Amino acid sequence: MHAGNEHLDPNYVAAYDRKSGFDPTDDLDVLCRHGLTTDSIVVDMGAGTGVFTAAVAPLCQQVIAVDVSPVMTAALRSRVERDDLDNVSVVEAGFLSYEHDASPPDFVYTRNALHQVPDFWKAIALQRLASMLRPEGILRVRDLVFDFEPVDAEGNIKDWLSGAVTDPTVGFTAEELATHVRTEFSTYSWLFEAVLERVGFTILDRHYRRSAYGTYTCMRHAT
Ligand SMILES: C[S@@+](CC[C@H](N)C(=O)[O-])C[C@H]1O[C@@H](n2cnc3c(N)ncnc32)[C@H](O)[C@@H]1O
Repeated sequence: MHAGNEHLDPNYVAAYDRKSGFDPTDDLDVLCRHGLTTDSIVVDMGAGTGVFTAAVAPLCQQVIAVDVSPVMTAALRSRVERDDLDNVSVVEAGFLSYEHDASPPDFVYTRNALHQVPDFWKAIALQRLASMLRPEGILRVRDLVFDFEPVDAEGNIKDWLSGAVTDPTVGFTAEELATHVRTEFSTYSWLFEAVLERVGFTILDRHYRRSAYGTYTCMRHAT
């Protein structure tokens, strides 16, 4: 199993929420604008400790929170129990192994997880998400995606690293970002967008921050 080694480390997972500093408010607003209701079914892929899952659960009918790491799913289950979220199911599975055997979801959400798989597999993962969604269902995807040309890579990566935090408990350090570039599978925006379109999504909006963080709202084609 490839989950990113840190996601299998209980100490890293215990400290993850503070380090990540993730606020899902904007994502919830976008899902609501695209029709999220108390009848909606949501799949959170690579759900991690469940920050998004816990935030969306009160607004929808059911959340299926999927993560490949047993340490992350244990943290997720603790959150679900602690917050008494009786409409959340936690599934230990990955982008390439999760089988959705209930009604097709209206929304699939995934944040900062797809870069764990190389592009060949990422395309298959996105194809699987498209097949899982109902026609015209919405995929909200956020990931580390590089929005520049290869010729500008050195300068852009240097800029990105220069803005990193020094305290690893409240963010990602330059060393961690450099390890990400060397060993994980973030791709270029122009490749990522082409794959989204290739597997059957229309990109409704896209946003890049610091040339390194991509956010997309996509609709699965009607047929
Ligand atoms: C950086 S964390 C992000 C967690 C959460 N989505 C968030 O934004 O806080 C990445 C998560 O992706 C999970 N992951 C890694 N590879 C995966 C795969 N192939 N399938 C599903 N989840 C995976 C990891 O276990 C980890 O929980």
